[in-house]
Amino acid sequence: MEIKKYPLQQHGDSRGHLVALEEKVDVPFEIKRVYYMFDTKSGVIRGMHAHKSLEQLLVCVHGSVKILLDDGTEKRTVFLDNPYEGLYVSNNMWREMSEFSEGAVLMVFASKYYDENDYIRDYDEFLRFVGKKF
Ligand code: TYD
Repeated sequence: MEIKKYPLQQHGDSRGHLVALEEKVDVPFEIKRVYYMFDTKSGVIRGMHAHKSLEQLLVCVHGSVKILLDDGTEKRTVFLDNPYEGLYVSNNMWREMSEFSEGAVLMVFASKYYDENDYIRDYDEFLRFVGKKF
């Protein structure tokens, strides 16, 4: 499984830093929705689902977080610990977010509006969906 981490251009000067994201330029799809997770309690695992068609770019704008990606064949773990790289998460990818550091903020850019019908929340159903279980 290929992990796609996108370096995000930093505009820094003596005042500090700034990152700008534009759709189809820095984010590889049209952005329909942005949301962010913060104040995540210690020990919590979020996600635990896949999407049938949604694509996402995850940016940990503050702190750090561990991301598990699973395409049904292979599992990979990625750490996001800076605000100038984005992790691309395709559709048909099971994801789990854990080990949120104190004060971590995980921002997510998404290719579609929120739609519960796009979620696969059952792992066995996910394996069937991606053709890895019958
Ligand atoms: P949930 O899917 O449980 O988050 P995660 O899987 O990342 O841990 O979402 C938590 C709640 O927020 C749930 O009631 C659905 C709602 N929600 C929205 O209304 N819009 C959104 O864009 C998202 C991502 C969640």
